[in-house]
Amino acid sequence: MARMKVNRRGVTTVPVRLGVRSYPVEIGKGILSKFGKRLSELQLTSIGMKVAVVTNPLLLKLYGKNLIHSLRAEGFTVTVIVVPAGESSKDLVWVGRIIDKLVAGKFERRSALIALGGGVIGDLAGFVASAYLRGIPYIHVPTTVIAQVDSSVGGKTAVNHAKGKNLIGAFYQPKLVFADVEVLNSLDLRELIGGLAEVIKYGVIADARLFRFLEANMERILGRDPDAWLHLVSRACAIKAAVVSADEREGGRRRILNYGHTLGHAIETATSYRCYTHGEAVAMGMVFAAQLSVEEGLCGVTTAKRQYDLIVKAGLPTVMPDLSSAAVMHAMDRDKKVVAEQVNFVLVDRIGRVRIETVERQRIRSALKSFRQNIRSRFGRDNRRFEAHHGGMGRTFVH
Ligand SMILES: NC(=O)c1ccc[n+]([C@@H]2O[C@H](COP(=O)([O-])OP(=O)(O)OC[C@H]3O[C@@H](n4cnc5c(N)ncnc54)[C@H](O)[C@@H]3O)[C@@H](O)[C@H]2O)c1
Ligand SMILES: [Zn+2]
Repeated sequence: MARMKVNRRGVTTVPVRLGVRSYPVEIGKGILSKFGKRLSELQLTSIGMKVAVVTNPLLLKLYGKNLIHSLRAEGFTVTVIVVPAGESSKDLVWVGRIIDKLVAGKFERRSALIALGGGVIGDLAGFVASAYLRGIPYIHVPTTVIAQVDSSVGGKTAVNHAKGKNLIGAFYQPKLVFADVEVLNSLDLRELIGGLAEVIKYGVIADARLFRFLEANMERILGRDPDAWLHLVSRACAIKAAVVSADEREGGRRRILNYGHTLGHAIETATSYRCYTHGEAVAMGMVFAAQLSVEEGLCGVTTAKRQYDLIVKAGLPTVMPDLSSAAVMHAMDRDKKVVAEQVNFVLVDRIGRVRIETVERQRIRSALKSFRQNIRSRFGRDNRRFEAHHGGMGRTFVH
């Protein structure tokens, strides 16, 4: 795990070590108003200190003013670029519109682009920063759990194409990631819990202590205790930073981050992204991956049960209520992870350690068929807690 440091003001710094492309991820409570000063210290921008803040209307209202004020107080000239909230803004049309604003504002190589938002704003602004003038400094101020623990670290940027998600993109590392966990207070509970699925994932793939912390502190976490979140975001970033430093472009080790995602992506595709958040789909994917690990003889039922219990405790779904295994298998087949009759699967050895295995397609198909039944009979519970939160949505599938 990347080593983290905590300074006098309680800000945790996680270094992402990538040679000349290295950068810090800084995580703190109520630090948004210090952003201008921090950026100024980095001396990324040239005389005139031109920066553009890319955000959406809600975030501009909630946090933009504070952030922009802190930038102006340090002498930056700030251009604000507002894009509509939601995944549909992550496309080439908005890339073009943002670039138009940068050209009109005479942005140069040493002007910086700041993304204030979740994964959508981060992926979009990061991609623009990678392309404009062949690359200008980029900083992400992540505002969702997904962005704070996942998308802001690692340098993957992308926009969607009509034919597929994230089809157009680049590896482009930011100069700084500046995460204030207090902004998570305004996040929709379902978004918060969805992001928590990725944190659980980090515990399972690399950090048994983080997993125990999640088991012992779920009430505080769901109650948005800032100290609990400071801990979660810091540990998650440290794990992602270590994995990314070892494998920047997803050749080998980085693939362990896909734990729960093979089935998760298939569920999202099979339901046309309409029923579950990404994290919810990943939660079900993790339950399935652990069951497959038991069936393949890699881990014991106790390990799978511990993960299952934590997922239930978090209020995440565990099984696919009305989704046929055939529909999911079909979606998985279309996914790039399928090589001939084998599928690359991240499987669990024990909490804190996973491995990548190729599994026969046929084995997955039969495991999927018995998935629901097995989980219910083994662990005796189902999606009740999740459905109590979300009114049983997820029952109205489009196959
Ligand atoms: N680059 C990567 O490595 C990577 C990794 C994971 C996901 N992603 C991408 O990230 C995107 C999903 O990101 P996301 O889950 O952050 O969604 P998002 O960026 O769409 O944000 C979700 C919603 O929450 C709102 N919101 C954001 N911050 C808020 C706050 N603090 N308070 C209140 N509301 C807030 C947003 O306005 C939006 O409506 C997808 O496009 C996905 O492809 C990228
Ligand atoms: Zn994910």
